[in-house]
Amino acid sequence: MITRFSILIGFIIAGITFGVASPCIAEDESRDAQSKIQIIPEPAALEACEGLFRFTTGTQVVASGRARVEADKLIDDLTPAMGYRLRLAKDASTGENVIRLEIKPALKDKAGEEGYELTVTKQSIVIRAFKPAGLYYGIQTLRQLLPPVVFGSQKADGVEWTAPCVRITDRPRFKWRGLLIDPARHSISKKDVKHFIDVMAMHKFNRLQMHLTDDQGWRIEIKKYPQLTDIGAWMDYTTMRRGGAHESDSQHPGGFYTQDDIRELVRYAIRHYVTIVPEIEMPAHTGAAIVSYPRLGLYPEKLKNLAPKKRWTANERILAPRPQTVAFMQDVLAEVMELFDSRFIHIGGDEANKGHWKQSRQMQALIGDLGLKDETELHSWFIKQMDAFLTRHGRRLVGWDEILQGGLAPGAVVMSWRGQGGGITAAKAGHDVIMAPTSHAYFDYYQGPAKTEPRAIGGFIPLEKTYQFEPVPSELTGEQARHVLGGQAQLWGEYISNPKHRWYMAYPRAAAISEVLWSPGSDRSYELFMVRLAHHLKRLDAARVNYRPLDTERAR
Ligand code: ACM
Repeated sequence: MITRFSILIGFIIAGITFGVASPCIAEDESRDAQSKIQIIPEPAALEACEGLFRFTTGTQVVASGRARVEADKLIDDLTPAMGYRLRLAKDASTGENVIRLEIKPALKDKAGEEGYELTVTKQSIVIRAFKPAGLYYGIQTLRQLLPPVVFGSQKADGVEWTAPCVRITDRPRFKWRGLLIDPARHSISKKDVKHFIDVMAMHKFNRLQMHLTDDQGWRIEIKKYPQLTDIGAWMDYTTMRRGGAHESDSQHPGGFYTQDDIRELVRYAIRHYVTIVPEIEMPAHTGAAIVSYPRLGLYPEKLKNLAPKKRWTANERILAPRPQTVAFMQDVLAEVMELFDSRFIHIGGDEANKGHWKQSRQMQALIGDLGLKDETELHSWFIKQMDAFLTRHGRRLVGWDEILQGGLAPGAVVMSWRGQGGGITAAKAGHDVIMAPTSHAYFDYYQGPAKTEPRAIGGFIPLEKTYQFEPVPSELTGEQARHVLGGQAQLWGEYISNPKHRWYMAYPRAAAISEVLWSPGSDRSYELFMVRLAHHLKRLDAARVNYRPLDTERAR
């Protein structure tokens, strides 16, 4: 178990844990040096040393083989703020003034898929990893050692480009470090998704779940069913309530991602070691699909006779899982699988109002024909059709914890949102889980008193609460705990209609959760996190993130 650095005793612990020969400077000086190093998420082990590495126009980046791709990204990232481009070389003529990136097979056990070692001395910077992803995360840490303006997109004048000397050994606690965005409720431009990914990468997140379909909009082009976007992307409805009613919102532009747009986003995300996990909701939250193709719904004859605009309020927003509907959704998933590299495909599965199935004679007959007991079993049967289909194609189904009801599909991964109970049940049954509970990880909830905050969906999750999130509940044995792949925070979009508001809801809570998901869980300290965060906010300023100011700042 890696022991986490703390200000007082960190370098001693790091020395013992990693067999570092000796702390590189005396404790007092180390404390002083450490106070200048404020990294989020906090590395597993960090030993501050004396002195600085100084960047010059002559600094060379040395990398070969697979490390060159990461070296190019490092150079690209540093250039805008520095105003000069570092040179990439295969070999250094001297050992001085170089940044060396190295893939090291010997680090397999120590670094794993995403870990790295970073050493900064006055002469050189060396990042070593077993895999390119580790180099990439080492580079993210290195960027945080530079002045915060390095995250800006403009040349920063009068800045001394230095990094403090340090030894870091780091790897993530969890494999799944996710955030969810919701373009279905309010569409999100490609440019804004890319900016969101940039800032995710800075925090070492590696999963972006995109909630692409819901009642208010269908946002992904499906070639076989063009009406999904011809109609379903332009319904001019939101769930924003005015005067207590769901109303048409003329500010709501609608829109969708073409398949080329999706490919572009997936490529962009891959470059940042972020996997986009598509979510195609079913069987509920499917109003936009039913408006587009009434035959998917319970009462197609009734809907067909209405103009598309009128169908939105007239449909039950739940699929009728007839054989043709199952085939339709599998056709959709087939195109989705071609577009996304993610092994995990999310099919929603939450909040299905099965009362509509209960009232439908046709659905009752279907339940009988399938030899099922009731609507809950029909829900489970439907999810199992999708699970079998995805599994046949080498993918894994993820669903919200309602998919536990009526029997979990064999290969399914459970995303636990109604607390962590669903996740615990699933992990005990040997299923993989992702913890995403409303208690700590719903970033559409208020962060302060509703009177002083922009409109949120409800609830109350201040920064400290998010920081207290523990993805592995104490009820699980060590073996069961291994099924917890990680955690995810949700930025549902019903009340978030623009990027400024989205940033406000996301940060700094996302910075807190990045640490929950990356850093060792043993002795997390909110007080020390807040010290680091005060500095980190300058980076977010440079990265044009409209974060919510800390309460201490607001009180001034
Ligand atoms: C959810 O928030 N309905 C998953």
